[in-house]
Amino acid sequence: MPLHLIWAEDEAGGIGQDGDLPWRQRTDLQRFKALTLGHAVVMGRRTWESLPFPLPGRENLVLTRDPSWSEDGAQRTTMKDVESRSDSGEVLFVIGGGEIYALMLSDASVIHRTVVHTIVRGADTHAPALDPEVWTLESSEMIAAQNGDQHDQTFEQWTRL
Ligand SMILES: NC(=O)c1ccc[n+]([C@@H]2O[C@H](COP(=O)([O-])OP(=O)(O)OC[C@H]3O[C@@H](n4cnc5c(N)ncnc54)[C@H](OP(=O)(O)O)[C@@H]3O)[C@@H](O)[C@H]2O)c1
Repeated sequence: MPLHLIWAEDEAGGIGQDGDLPWRQRTDLQRFKALTLGHAVVMGRRTWESLPFPLPGRENLVLTRDPSWSEDGAQRTTMKDVESRSDSGEVLFVIGGGEIYALMLSDASVIHRTVVHTIVRGADTHAPALDPEVWTLESSEMIAAQNGDQHDQTFEQWTRL
């Protein structure tokens, strides 16, 4: 099932604070764009609300329990739709947030995890922990902070054993 999860977490697993990302990491955003461009991206309604605009060049799919939800630039989806597209071989990227990562982890085949080398005090949203009996680290690349990055970061790719 080619469902990819992608997130950036701090050294304690924090991914969000007050409905937003707790950092500005330009290099990570560039990586996010390179990996997701041309694919459908699946997100929870709260992550959708954190975006300034729909992600261009990607089909923006939003999970919400509100059947009347409708916004320009996005489509409401369901777990069933995501599973069925993924089962038919399409690569979809799950882009957050915390509730949706937890919900989709058991269906994922690949995880693109960025570890941002900081600890955010007061992070209110966390990524799920990766069980070493289920997930194996395929690649890991430490990148020193570049122009537009607040912190050093490590790009990791995990696959299901
Ligand atoms: N660091 C990163 O990589 C990263 C990435 C993305 C987001 N974030 C951060 O994460 C935070 C948002 O995460 P979050 O956990 O609060 O919210 P979220 O996962 O983005 O969205 C939660 C919403 O998804 C909907 N939902 C949940 N389960 C569902 C189901 N089974 N079926 C249909 N809809 C379902 C519900 O929407 P309704 O309430 O409308 O029903 C729920 O309120 C923000 O701070 C954001 O900046 C960080």
